[in-house]
Amino acid sequence: MTITEDLRALEAEAVAAIGAAETLEALESVRIGYLGKKGSLTAVLRGLGGLSAEERPEAGRVSNEVRRSLETAIDERHALLAGAAHATRVAADAVDVTLPGRRHPVGRQHVVHQVVDEIADNFTGLGYRIAEGPQVELDYYNFTALNHPPDHPARALQDTFYVRDLSGDRAAVEGESDVLLRTHTSPAQVHIMEAQKPPIYVIVPGKVYRRDVADPSHSPQFTQIEGLVVDEGITFGDLKGTLEHFLHEMFGPDRRVRLRPHFFPFTEPSAEVDVSCGICGGEGCRSCGGEGWLEILGCGMVDPNVFGYVGIDPERYTGFAFGMGAERIAGLKYGVPDLRLFTEGDTRFLHQF
Ligand code: DAH
Repeated sequence: MTITEDLRALEAEAVAAIGAAETLEALESVRIGYLGKKGSLTAVLRGLGGLSAEERPEAGRVSNEVRRSLETAIDERHALLAGAAHATRVAADAVDVTLPGRRHPVGRQHVVHQVVDEIADNFTGLGYRIAEGPQVELDYYNFTALNHPPDHPARALQDTFYVRDLSGDRAAVEGESDVLLRTHTSPAQVHIMEAQKPPIYVIVPGKVYRRDVADPSHSPQFTQIEGLVVDEGITFGDLKGTLEHFLHEMFGPDRRVRLRPHFFPFTEPSAEVDVSCGICGGEGCRSCGGEGWLEILGCGMVDPNVFGYVGIDPERYTGFAFGMGAERIAGLKYGVPDLRLFTEGDTRFLHQF
């Protein structure tokens, strides 16, 4: 075989290999295999030096032709494969606009907080201020300054969560107070009266804690809203009128309101307040236990002993206080039969409000 024939055979073989290269990488190794430093064509070209003077020009011309034709074939194949690779990448990156979007669920205020806000708004509309008190309290604020005698049953371990209980060792820690989770928002009354002179018109919402086992009407943690008014000339009539106004705003003007005598250590006289049942209108039904009335809150005139603890002159000032459970009011307002639903966090329940 002459060198020209060799070159043409090599060209045919290389063109076939170029056409068979399916990827850019495969094409590059074909290129190196023929045109690289140790490539087959390069080897042939090196051999040209050994040819006779007659053979050389023809062999040189053909080898140049073969090199150019291979370079062209490689360039064309390269353009084709690069285009395909690009198309593949674009296809992989493409956004399928027909796919359903991702949901971003919007949260909402918890129904109990909605009710707390509604109650607080009612009173701020009457000129009350909103205040807060600590949830971890001293026995002094939770009980003593609220006129609870030392042996009051609410102080017992089975009712109150103690953070630090010194009862067994009182003498050793003279002057120190038990620390507990407040069992009601009433201790905030004492903080407020310590810090502020009358006139006082204040609402205190907040969490409270009791050693109760959760059942449809009890929970170890719930929310109370406390009210306190101290001013000159405040009467029981002011208390009754304020609560009637509030309860009509909250439950509607048709509901009747009644006060029943009751006892709280920190108010004298004290009362419990009922509204007529919204389901039977006061006739008595299953939801009000046949009573026709629903107990809503506790209230009374601030006991002069409490004024004594905070240095307010009971000869000059009188006041009233009240306290209610936000979960209970939310439950009555929306007909929720089990207060545990409020804390279980089931969004199917919560989304209804
Ligand atoms: N602190 C009472 C309780 O938790 C509720 C209460 C009753 C608050 C009468 C008051 C009040 O301010 O005057 O049961």
